[in-house]
Amino acid sequence: MSPASYRAAPPRVACSTLQVHRPRTKSGPRGQRLSSRRHRDAGPDGSPLAWTDVTTPPTAPSAVTAATIDEAAPRVADVASRTPLELNARLSAATGAQVWLKREDLQPVRSYKIRGAYNLIVQLDAEARGRGVVCASAGNHAQGVALACRRLGTHGRIYVPGTTPRQKRERIVTLGGADVEVIVVGDSYEDAFRAAQQDAADTGAVLVPAFDDPRTISGQGTVAPEIVEQLGHAPDLLVVPVGGGGLIAGMATWMHERHPATRVVGVEPAGAASMGAALAAGAPTPLAEVDPFVDGAAVGTAGRHTFPLVRDAGAQLMTVDEGHACTEMLRLYQSDGIIAEPAGALATAALDAGLVIEPGSTVVCVVSGGNNDISRYGEVLERSLIHQRLKHYFLVSFPQEPGALRRFLDEILGPDDDITLFDYVKRNNRETGPALIGVELASADDLSGLLERLEDSPLGVERVAPGSPLFHYLV
Ligand SMILES: Cc1ncc(COP(=O)(O)O)c(C=O)c1O
Repeated sequence: MSPASYRAAPPRVACSTLQVHRPRTKSGPRGQRLSSRRHRDAGPDGSPLAWTDVTTPPTAPSAVTAATIDEAAPRVADVASRTPLELNARLSAATGAQVWLKREDLQPVRSYKIRGAYNLIVQLDAEARGRGVVCASAGNHAQGVALACRRLGTHGRIYVPGTTPRQKRERIVTLGGADVEVIVVGDSYEDAFRAAQQDAADTGAVLVPAFDDPRTISGQGTVAPEIVEQLGHAPDLLVVPVGGGGLIAGMATWMHERHPATRVVGVEPAGAASMGAALAAGAPTPLAEVDPFVDGAAVGTAGRHTFPLVRDAGAQLMTVDEGHACTEMLRLYQSDGIIAEPAGALATAALDAGLVIEPGSTVVCVVSGGNNDISRYGEVLERSLIHQRLKHYFLVSFPQEPGALRRFLDEILGPDDDITLFDYVKRNNRETGPALIGVELASADDLSGLLERLEDSPLGVERVAPGSPLFHYLV
């Protein structure tokens, strides 16, 4: 057996119109550090710091109404597509309902984000447009801003965190052309947001919030009337992915006013459930930690505009595990030929994650985005297998004698168990040598048999516990 080791950190993108931002000062607005951290920011006394938009004047939540959304619709139609609403046979059969998909992944920027960005920028007067715009984005809002800038001849500076996939960064540059600059800063949306705020304060450029502005929210809300027009009636259930809450705030507000009988459910990734936390606490509350995997929806604090709109529209919130979203991404791809990014798969993933669905009812799920970097599929597959309890890792102490591996294969592995990782280093002067083994099962039911055989064998076996640091390293 020979040692096998691999794993390279993904390269940081460097391309001509893309800069990595190194802030000259360590202090952002109100003294926050512009640092690269995933956990909650704390003030000097340990209290959480709010990072919500402090440059836009406070606007009462009622600044978003069904009327502002109806007014946004013809503006948005200048640049956004009226995306198809498609009946999905797989999900309809699985739920016994009529499940329709609103294909916002088919927008020119491959997500609904163009609606809000354009609705905001097109309403700026010539003087404001002349100062240019800035935004922070995990990638999709940036593409909306980039396309809007190009259409309107406005200059844009776009701050993205280092976690933004390469595919999204490159699309921003392609869509915005010479009108935009992309600046990489920190490793969370919040880091990028603070840098954009600082830029706006320093230069006078107009900040275009990704979700927490009535004009952004009204633009995103235009998805709702479009669905009702296309369907010919309001759905019984509308399922919407949630990050900072711009999409659901707009859609739920419009539905609540125009079709209050429709139940609106927002779906957050389990590792970034900030809107659910806000509803539970009665106010936006920073999460202690955010899992950045569902990059479109990994937001640590619900918006101060979006939160009251979601609450007052009576939307319900639920979570879906990141691994479950991966399984649904793969189903969308394999069965339906739809390329969804993780956030784009949240709404349909919710259908088999405990959401109660009336048989025969009409359900609409928003497939919100399709900007998936091909290099992420390895991780998507791995997370999906783990979620389905098909992938497991073990540390096994092998006696350092000929034939030990053969006995492991013959006596412990089941007929359908597949070794996906075997990392062993022969040690001199020792009786046993440890091996790290990854096993993929054909069925989750095969796990108990494998564990029993491992337990009964003379080999020392330790299961790598899901969630442990070693497990995270492997995945
Ligand atoms: C594809 C996709 N879906 C959902 C969301 C969540 O959006 P919101 O912040 O409007 O809740 C985002 C946000 O960037 C996204 O890009």
